[in-house]
Amino acid sequence: MRDEMPYTARVIRPDRAPAFRDPGIRNGFVHVPATITTQPTRTALLPAKARVAAVVPAVPQISLQGVQKTYPNGTVALRDVTLEIPKQDFVFLVGPSGAGKSTLVRLLIREEKATAGSIHIEGQDLSRLKRRHLPYLRRKIGMVFQDFKLLPNLTVFQNVAFALRVTEGALRHLKPKVEEVLSIVGLEGKESKYPDQLSGGEQQRVAIARALVHDPRIFLADEPTGNLDPATSWEIIQLLLQINARGTTVLMATHNREIVDVMRRRVVAIEGGQIVRDEDAGGYHAPALESH
Ligand SMILES: Nc1ncnc2c1ncn2[C@@H]1O[C@H](COP(=O)(O)OP(=O)(O)OP(=O)(O)O)[C@@H](O)[C@H]1O
Ligand SMILES: [Mg+2]
Repeated sequence: MRDEMPYTARVIRPDRAPAFRDPGIRNGFVHVPATITTQPTRTALLPAKARVAAVVPAVPQISLQGVQKTYPNGTVALRDVTLEIPKQDFVFLVGPSGAGKSTLVRLLIREEKATAGSIHIEGQDLSRLKRRHLPYLRRKIGMVFQDFKLLPNLTVFQNVAFALRVTEGALRHLKPKVEEVLSIVGLEGKESKYPDQLSGGEQQRVAIARALVHDPRIFLADEPTGNLDPATSWEIIQLLLQINARGTTVLMATHNREIVDVMRRRVVAIEGGQIVRDEDAGGYHAPALESH
């Protein structure tokens, strides 16, 4: 009855091997895939063929293939970018000013269109997405920026509720949801404050709450700590970690060297519009090459 024994096997984590043709290579860089030990599961009771099917990789949640972006003025912001991000990954996007980080983020929410190549989100080809379907894409994606982008004449509660784009009458029905996200970001009791009555960290929390109100599956943050002091920046990172632990994929563009170095998460480095490094558990800079 060997098949009924719980079994343990080392497998390549299927969702971390998007380039399954060759799981050791990611974006052309040698990459050691994360491995897991499967827990004894019901798959142990399945015939061998079915067990193989159980570890077949899922489509990456975010996939860019040979993406180029040339702005109308001729600036080439991204060139031949191929990047795959599995569900629930946490990725830092680093690189010097003008490298193309924000452009990449803007392509993912279809604020800009790629000039060449393809972008898929959960299997959906963004180049084929009709304008009227954009709200569905954007509901899947929560987004925060360096400058918070709150509406100054609305209270904290209204800023978050406004993301749901409903009438005043219906707002009452959304109260529990708005309160839930405000409590996730630790802003209970601040509902009736206006943005200029809040600290920078609190304003970023409101922006995060607003981004969470649709229960997004992907969370994009473009330099979310750019205007914050180090202690407040760490609080925001803790929040992003919590969001990630709840199952949301997080992609954060940042210049914050300390945070990237301490966190040891996946780092995608971009320079001159090209990916120059893609490392699991990476640092802000590439490890120095040993000199002989
Ligand atoms: N709307 C635009 N029109 C023309 N060129 C643009 C536009 N937006 C960005 N660029 C150019 O594209 C390149 C990439 O810019 P991007 O904003 O993506 O860089 P970034 O990595 O986010 O930089 P930073 O770290 O300063 O935010 C730069 O050369 C920039 O000048
Ligand atoms: Mg930018």
